[in-house]
Amino acid sequence: MTRIERGSTVVEVVTGDITALEVDAMVNAANQSLSGGGGVDGAIHRAAGKAKLQDACRAIGGCPTCEARITEGFDLPARFVIHAVGPRWKDGNKGEEELLAGAYRSSFMLAEEHNAGSIAFPAISTGVYGFPKERAARIAARHCLTAAETGKFETIVLCCFSDGDAAIYASALTTEAQS
Ligand code: AR6
Repeated sequence: MTRIERGSTVVEVVTGDITALEVDAMVNAANQSLSGGGGVDGAIHRAAGKAKLQDACRAIGGCPTCEARITEGFDLPARFVIHAVGPRWKDGNKGEEELLAGAYRSSFMLAEEHNAGSIAFPAISTGVYGFPKERAARIAARHCLTAAETGKFETIVLCCFSDGDAAIYASALTTEAQS
């Protein structure tokens, strides 16, 4: 586990199942329809209670890439789920980096509006959406450190699903923290 402190905020990288984390807000790597899917989206929907989370998402109606929407966490340990829609990787020239950055920024904005002091992110866009992991990790790390500097969060977790991914995110966090 890698841990960086910025004022009263801890930013950390962990390996594990995000659905088990005891945080105020859990970020989901969702799609534009917010209708659930595979990967971490499927895991969060199952753990929250499929029907309840699906109903809440249906009431919202959808979310464009680069933005996020918030629902209750239902059966999850988290009070809220923030459904962030990252981009599909195309060739790197379709604004992918800025779109991913927007997904992080929108998530932090919603967390702040809902007084969620602890928040956990999966490695958004790096699974089915094919975003190169090192590049995605740098964007995630940079936005977590920027959010840490606001002093509005106690804990920001980057939750990776494998030790290999965690090593990539940890290295990005260390590099960004030094720059
Ligand atoms: N806890 C933490 N991380 C996880 C978990 C988990 N339980 N399960 C998977 N991951 P992906 P995307 C990791 O594909 O690339 C969905 O169908 C996974 O190993 O879930 O943003 C949506 O509905 C990877 O590192 O999300 C969208 O259609 C990371 O989560 C689409 O996939 C993200 O992989 C979104 O694709």
